[in-house]
Amino acid sequence: MRKIIIAGNWKMNKIFPEAEDFFMDIAEYIENKKLGNVEVVICPPSVYLEMAGDITADHQLFIGAQNVSRFESGAYTGELSALMFNSMELDYCIIGHSERRKYFAETDKSINEKLKILQENEIIPIVCIGETLNERESGITEKIVLNQLEGAFRDVQINDDVVIAYEPVWAIGTGVTATPQQAQEIHYLIRNWFVDKYSKEVAENIPILYGGSMKPENIKELLSQQDIDGGLIGGASLDISKFSEMIDIAVEL
Ligand code: PGA
Repeated sequence: MRKIIIAGNWKMNKIFPEAEDFFMDIAEYIENKKLGNVEVVICPPSVYLEMAGDITADHQLFIGAQNVSRFESGAYTGELSALMFNSMELDYCIIGHSERRKYFAETDKSINEKLKILQENEIIPIVCIGETLNERESGITEKIVLNQLEGAFRDVQINDDVVIAYEPVWAIGTGVTATPQQAQEIHYLIRNWFVDKYSKEVAENIPILYGGSMKPENIKELLSQQDIDGGLIGGASLDISKFSEMIDIAVEL
């Protein structure tokens, strides 16, 4: 059975005491919960990773970064390396988020480099893909998603965990969610791409998360789809009551 991942992507939100309170509260909230096959991940801004790791060390909580450098180490002012994350025993790292593609010139090539460097450092990549509104309306959603997969996974072997997040750009932060059917259709396409490129076994094990205005009101229907294995949650993950409600819904499914 594939694991279900409920992942919060905080983006550039919360000041230090707010972040600290959130981690203490969520750690306490899930302390004695039976999570079954549900894994809870939070990706705060990188300046909070150490604090988050300390608070959640003995809890069933995984921590992730939101980006990583494509370089190994050296004179790259402002960058954070996969080796640094490895030395902090970080679990996950998001790469290729559409906001990074849009505002920070992230390309399939750099995402591919980041994917490889994360694998070398034993950090599980959460690889984001998804079409813009314009691309959906032009009827090229499938082509865009498959191209992004081809680019990100060029010359990549899959021997360890990799997570995909399908995030239609038009649904991110807009309050508009893809219908469960629209999402399932693309998740199915993605899983089949892994069957063709790798193997049935790889495809069956790979968690494919949905992202884009996921919230307590729509998570159940989305997670009930055959190929949706969790969520990468932005806005609603900043609110402890919404985030914990979503964890509970996932556990009960
Ligand atoms: P959202 O963001 O839930 O606020 O739409 C999701 C994401 O960008 O990962």
